[in-house]
Amino acid sequence: MAIKVYDGDVAVRVTVNGVKRSGIAEPRTLLSDFIRHELDLTGTHVGCEHGVCGACTVRIDGQLVRSCITFAVQVDGAEIETVEGMADGAQLHPIQEAFRDEHGLQCGFCTPAMLLTTQALLEEDPDPSEGVIRDYISGNVCRCTGYQGIVNSVQNAARRCGDAAATCAVRNEVSE
Ligand code: FES
Ligand code: FES
Repeated sequence: MAIKVYDGDVAVRVTVNGVKRSGIAEPRTLLSDFIRHELDLTGTHVGCEHGVCGACTVRIDGQLVRSCITFAVQVDGAEIETVEGMADGAQLHPIQEAFRDEHGLQCGFCTPAMLLTTQALLEEDPDPSEGVIRDYISGNVCRCTGYQGIVNSVQNAARRCGDAAATCAVRNEVSE
């Protein structure tokens, strides 16, 4: 339950990439704006702003969610995963390495959401067929790659995560 701070605004407390965070939001504040402007995590991108392109996708309690059609106050108390939580310092996440090696990005605008979507897919199906991959990423619009590089990247990521599953999982340790 969000705490009321003063007229209209509420404090929203979340765990983001394993770190407890809080910020102030108006009841109408979109989660994408809260993440980018209140939490300063600008890896979550905003494209269409009406739930179509998928660029703003983050994970809320493990589920893929479009943050541009979610209110920040709706996620009070939730665990959020954003692209910033994938790399371990300078060490890229295996899924990021797969996208780099297979040229799964050009401008990179869709990439944070593609990475998180790939992570969620591989948790559900560690060895997805090409058809399953194309279906799973169909809610994420890419203007650049023509998608084949992204499909190749997901297949590459599946091989990497099959070899080292522990390093592909969401990091759940919580710090203050
Ligand atoms: S910016 Fe959220 S779906 Fe396009
Ligand atoms: S890499 Fe440019 S939109 Fe996907």
